[in-house]
Amino acid sequence: MTGLRSSSSLVAAAPVLSSAALLFFCCFTTGAADAGNGGGGLRLGYYSESCPRAEDIVKEQVAQLYHKHGNTAVSWLRALFHDCMVRSCDASLLLEPTATSVSEKASPRSFGMRNFKYIDVIKAAVERECPGTVSCSDVLALAARDGAAILGGPRVVGMRTGRRDSRESHDDEVERDIPNHNDSVSAVLSRFAALGVDAEGAVALLGAHSVGRVHCFNLVARLYPTVDAGVDQAYGAYLRQRCPTADAREDTRDVAYARNDRATPMVLDNMYYKNLLARRGLLLVDQRLADDPRTASFVARMAADNAYFHDRFAAALLTMSEYNPLGDDEGEIRRDCRFVNPAA
Ligand code: HEM
Ligand SMILES: *[C@@H]1O[C@H](CO)[C@@H](O)[C@H](O)[C@H]1NC(C)=O
Repeated sequence: MTGLRSSSSLVAAAPVLSSAALLFFCCFTTGAADAGNGGGGLRLGYYSESCPRAEDIVKEQVAQLYHKHGNTAVSWLRALFHDCMVRSCDASLLLEPTATSVSEKASPRSFGMRNFKYIDVIKAAVERECPGTVSCSDVLALAARDGAAILGGPRVVGMRTGRRDSRESHDDEVERDIPNHNDSVSAVLSRFAALGVDAEGAVALLGAHSVGRVHCFNLVARLYPTVDAGVDQAYGAYLRQRCPTADAREDTRDVAYARNDRATPMVLDNMYYKNLLARRGLLLVDQRLADDPRTASFVARMAADNAYFHDRFAAALLTMSEYNPLGDDEGEIRRDCRFVNPAA
């Protein structure tokens, strides 16, 4: 974004410059970006000079937290999705409510999200080493990357950094932009396409539902008054036992939940796709992936080949994580992920 903007301002000045000057411009900006002088947007090792241990600290913290609360690693994956899907990967998700905005976290679509306080733990560790240097959006993206690996998923190689944090919540866009549990495949694919993630990438990313849980609130429509046609009978019985009444509340204190993958619920593997083929999809949207001609072949291929799933998941996670980053002249490096920095 910044690159585009700065080149257009240069183009405005270009008539008085020679083409040699233009050539100089091209190579100078590329060189500057590589050298870590800003202006290049995201790049590999953005903090290699300003905070050389940033990525190691995130990785250490993700591991420590995982050993205390395994589901923290699960949370980073869902949180990155919810952050990036709304406008930009800009940590707007993490903001607390203010006098003028509701928190994205408080949106109905964020129902069930947990462990936000541990993102603050990771950020605090980074701040101790390099105050005011590493963005919350990078901390979240790196945590999701490291979370995927620690859950037995792929090692995502080549994640760029240099994301900046928004100074505002986009709470009014959450319901529009993040798909719902019962959305059509068309709606889902078009939202992912907006991020540059194709149908295969979308199928791969939904494989994150191989880990974690779903509250009954998001399931009961499939179970009552009768179990949806096309749900495996034994699985339907399991779900009804997990969610024994039709009136599940939209309340996380409602502790009733079910898992997609009962065999390996804490492993980011292709059991999700095997379950879809066996008609044991948990959310309606999950099951639809196995039935839609645009996605079914990818479900089959990922069900058959865990390495292939991992490969596609890693690629799609990178694409999603680089969606629409703020430019160098936008946003800020938030010190506390819950609040924008106080005006200087
Ligand atoms: C069509 C897109 C998606 C929809 C409609 C969707 C919807 C949901 C819903 C309804 C839940 C359960 C919430 C609850 O009841 O507690 C959930 C959980 C989860 N989602 Fe998604 N999701 C989508 C895509 C993704 C993507 C792309 C990722 C990450 C790459 C992801 C990661 C997760 C994880 C890890 C959980 C479990 C969270 C936990 O156990 O705390 N989801 N999702
Ligand atoms: C999807 O589920 C929500 C409740 O989570 C419900 O309000 C909505 O009507 C459902 N949409 C469709 C198309 O069934």
